[in-house]
Amino acid sequence: MEGLTILLIFFGASCSILTCSVAVDTLSPTELIEDGDTIVSSGGMYELGFFSPGNSRNRYLGVRYKKVSNGTVVWIANRDTPLNTTSGILKLNSNGILQIVSDGNTNTTIWSSSSVNIINPVAQRLDDGNLVIREGSRNIWQSFDYPGNTYLRGMKLGKDLITGIDRQWISWKNFDDTSPGEYVVSMDMNGFPQIFQKWGSVLHTRFGPWNGVRFSGMPSLNQNPTSENEFVVNEEEIYYKIVVDSSVVSRMYLSPEGDVRPLNWVNHTQRWRTNLASVPTDSCSLYGVCGPYGTCNIRNFPICSCMEGFEPKRPEEWGAGAWFSGCVPRTPLDCVNGNEDGFRSVSGVKLQGTRSSWYDFSMNLDECETECLKNCSCTAYANLDIRNGGSGCLLWFDEIMDIREYNETQYLHIRLAQSELTRLTLAMHARIKKKRSYMKRQDSLCDRPKEDIDLPSFSLSTIAKSTSNFSIANKLGQGGFGPVYKGVLEDGREIAVKQLSKSSRQGLDEFKNEVRLVTYLRNMQCIGYSQLNRMYSALESWC
Ligand SMILES: *[C@@H]1O[C@H](CO)[C@@H](O)[C@H](O)[C@H]1NC(C)=O
Ligand SMILES: *[C@@H]1O[C@H](CO)[C@@H](O)[C@H](O)[C@H]1NC(C)=O
Ligand SMILES: *[C@@H]1O[C@H](CO)[C@@H](O)[C@H](O)[C@H]1NC(C)=O
Ligand SMILES: *[C@@H]1O[C@H](CO)[C@@H](O)[C@H](O)[C@H]1NC(C)=O
Ligand SMILES: *[C@@H]1O[C@H](CO)[C@@H](O)[C@H](O)[C@H]1NC(C)=O
Ligand SMILES: *[C@@H]1O[C@H](CO)[C@@H](O)[C@H](O)[C@H]1NC(C)=O
Ligand SMILES: *[C@@H]1O[C@H](CO)[C@@H](O)[C@H](O)[C@H]1NC(C)=O
Repeated sequence: MEGLTILLIFFGASCSILTCSVAVDTLSPTELIEDGDTIVSSGGMYELGFFSPGNSRNRYLGVRYKKVSNGTVVWIANRDTPLNTTSGILKLNSNGILQIVSDGNTNTTIWSSSSVNIINPVAQRLDDGNLVIREGSRNIWQSFDYPGNTYLRGMKLGKDLITGIDRQWISWKNFDDTSPGEYVVSMDMNGFPQIFQKWGSVLHTRFGPWNGVRFSGMPSLNQNPTSENEFVVNEEEIYYKIVVDSSVVSRMYLSPEGDVRPLNWVNHTQRWRTNLASVPTDSCSLYGVCGPYGTCNIRNFPICSCMEGFEPKRPEEWGAGAWFSGCVPRTPLDCVNGNEDGFRSVSGVKLQGTRSSWYDFSMNLDECETECLKNCSCTAYANLDIRNGGSGCLLWFDEIMDIREYNETQYLHIRLAQSELTRLTLAMHARIKKKRSYMKRQDSLCDRPKEDIDLPSFSLSTIAKSTSNFSIANKLGQGGFGPVYKGVLEDGREIAVKQLSKSSRQGLDEFKNEVRLVTYLRNMQCIGYSQLNRMYSALESWC
């Protein structure tokens, strides 16, 4: 093979079919890497060589950080076939296969890269930390296709449907043992693809479905606005990838305990910082904790309840906090009797799992509903993509599982019997009515004659003076319709000044109402006194 080289691609390396504008450190078929030798990427960020992770005495060949977080492992070749001597050698044979042999005498191969037969070379952008075997400009093998416990920017998680490579993320057994542990994060290909974090065969947590912007019910994994995430579903491949932003050194790490930790390197502390907010790990993130048709809210006690229109399947168990049996429709669906069901639209939830789903990128929501109505086993529908007002169709054909309450704005349309929908609507009206009459009662309890307030009037110059010309130092906060300043009148009285701008739609009447309300509440001491120990004054001339 001509021009066969092994490359440790680093920082910002970028290649196309024609050019490969990258400074590389290479290994040719005549060269060897012995234990103790390293290849350092010329940006200095990564190094390739033999090492022993943690307290282990075994020797592994892999890629580690060098410039930052010196020694932190990024990738290991022989993760489950370690060497117990320092006589290991890495070589590239003339067929383009990378081999680790135990020593130069017996040449026992303990690991080798498989060669993938890619027919057409592809233009590709390669990022940090990728170990690549390349013929000319053609990649014939890359370590990014065989991730370990670390996911680097630019790496894909998911399946190449042409080569069959399934890029999964597998934890170590423990900090000293790099062999495959109990946790795997991988793309589940049933229905609309979603990402599973599994503990053995147990589905632990679910990331998805992807809504065009992020995984439903999950803040963006990468909080940095300059980076983008990609979720690609087409006939050739299905993957998730963090695309750009090389200004931050970051990695995603799957701990031996199964925690998915997005980490950023913080230079001034010289430590990795976990962005905990980006991957919620609470009781509600456990897959299906509330059973079918149950919904989880971490702020409630108990955390599980049935979705509206559903009731506990086994009330005794449910009452005792065993939620796995979940809920069942309160009213059987009409569809089976040849009648049409309806849908209840719910927002504010992380959408359910999509293992038994069907999807179409081109349908709109109306077509989606029609499609769902056609089949009695269709339990719900939603848009696939929330961008530009929503598009695409996602249909579910199974019990709704793994819903949690989350401030998503996307609507999920859940199939219910018409009579149940009517019942829910009436119940809602009754609730509103009850609330209104409760508030009215409270009102009459607290009621005082609400005489018209005689607003004291001050000149603009007095107000300006009292607030040091509306200086920022005097600003107390931002009320509804405008900022509020603290002022001191010449006689020493403290006042609060609310500034109304022309663009605020609050008129004098609304303002008077606000003052009246504040006065009234203060009289009733219904809310904190300190908050109300202010007086408002109007700036009659709008500025
Ligand atoms: C960290 O860097 C120092 C010198 O730069 C080196 O001697 C040491 O071996 C490195 N540690 C690891 C764990 O690679
Ligand atoms: C190293 O491993 C080889 C083969 O796995 C084994 O025969 C040998 O006893 C081991 N040596 C030590 C010192 O553990
Ligand atoms: C082992 O490989 C080295 C380098 O390729 C070679 O020089 C040596 O002859 C080989 N030894 C055996 C026993 O094949
Ligand atoms: C990182 O911090 C060190 C000092 O701790 C400083 O010398 C270096 O310039 C910093 N690097 C960056 C990229 O900010
Ligand atoms: C309804 O959908 C399910 C799941 O996709 C399918 O197996 C079944 O054949 C469909 N039934 C009808 C009547 O189309
Ligand atoms: C949901 O709430 C969190 C914190 O309350 C906030 O950071 C996030 O932006 C909200 N997401 C949406 C989609 O509103
Ligand atoms: C407020 O503005 C007026 C006129 O611009 C100026 O004369 C006065 O000194 C200012 N007062 C303060 C406290 O900044």
